[in-house]
Amino acid sequence: MKGFYAAVAASAISGVFAAPSPVEVRQAASACATPVTLTGNPFAQRSIFANPYYASEVRSAVAQMTDTALAAKAAKVADIGTFQWIDNRAKISIIEDTLKQVPCDKLAAFVIYDLPGRDCAAKASNGELAVGDLPIYKAEYIDPIVALFKKYPNTAIALVIEPDSLPNLVTNIDQVSCQNSATGYREGVAYALKSLALPNIVMYIDAGHGGWLGWNDNLKPGAKELATVYKNAGSPKQVRGISTNVAGWNAFDLSPGEFSKETDAQWNKAQNEKLYVELFSPELTANGMPGQAIVDTGRNGVQGLRKAWGHWCNINGAGFGKRPTATTGSSLVDAFVWVKPGGESDGTSDTSATRYDSFCGKEESFKPSPEAGAWHQAYFEMLVKNANPPL
Ligand code: BGC
Repeated sequence: MKGFYAAVAASAISGVFAAPSPVEVRQAASACATPVTLTGNPFAQRSIFANPYYASEVRSAVAQMTDTALAAKAAKVADIGTFQWIDNRAKISIIEDTLKQVPCDKLAAFVIYDLPGRDCAAKASNGELAVGDLPIYKAEYIDPIVALFKKYPNTAIALVIEPDSLPNLVTNIDQVSCQNSATGYREGVAYALKSLALPNIVMYIDAGHGGWLGWNDNLKPGAKELATVYKNAGSPKQVRGISTNVAGWNAFDLSPGEFSKETDAQWNKAQNEKLYVELFSPELTANGMPGQAIVDTGRNGVQGLRKAWGHWCNINGAGFGKRPTATTGSSLVDAFVWVKPGGESDGTSDTSATRYDSFCGKEESFKPSPEAGAWHQAYFEMLVKNANPPL
């Protein structure tokens, strides 16, 4: 029992708490008693539920640790709410494990991530669906997820929609693989937004990060790309805006920014994520899309590790960053969130693997590292050690 009945005023949250039976009081995991309708900043009233999938990864990691002081810090990570990635059709089966446990004062949080031709400009996260598999994406991925969410109208849900996909169409469209993926991405994301627009759901479309769409020349085309897909989906009101820095390393408000002394910095005013949101949000609203943001602070606790802004794979020396919170100091930023589950790899360092990407072989990338999404024990321990603020 986490005692949330005492800590949270039921009236502050849409969806009424179930009156606890004596047994439920002990379990304390009851959903709201009535359907949830999310309006405004969903993180203002509810924090993200610590899903059992990541909690069990963390607990197994802690069990392997011999340094007891570090293990005690690591154990705390199991209680931090993170997003759960539904990165293939097989993972759909674990959604319900989470949904059935989410109390009324929490949000279940998932990442929708299975577009055909996924990760078109890189290799590490190439997915199970090939270019042209849009009908499979719709019928065997999005539709079953929607059906599950419909079973839980009394549960609040936050979604990040398809990290990196639309940003790739803005900046990497010179690559044939991204040209081939483009139609599937645009139609797939629009289908996801339209189909997942349920009252208890809030969605954020991924917008890369300041070092990506933040360049002066990318802001307008970036906003146009996202807003066009949003409008093609029928402008669902459950879309709040964007996610930024997903699985990324940028600081939220470090000033001057990490790369602001580079010679090309004059072409990018979005030298931290706060600046990026402040620059990108008005471009979105000018194009008719809402511009609220959530920012991934899961692994940005240590700065100054990367040689270049675009280096994205298993950065060595990283630490867990600011804890998830709706207190962000920016009216445009709904919350700091942990989208990438810290301890899961960004990509393999095995040069002979099919999904080996040269970015995972960079000097500042941690080696050896397993396949994207696989548990990376040494990396997790490093994130715990270097956490800032400390755990
Ligand atoms: C991987 C996914 C994984 C996610 C979260 C991505 O880079 O491609 O398989 O679920 O990271 O760790």
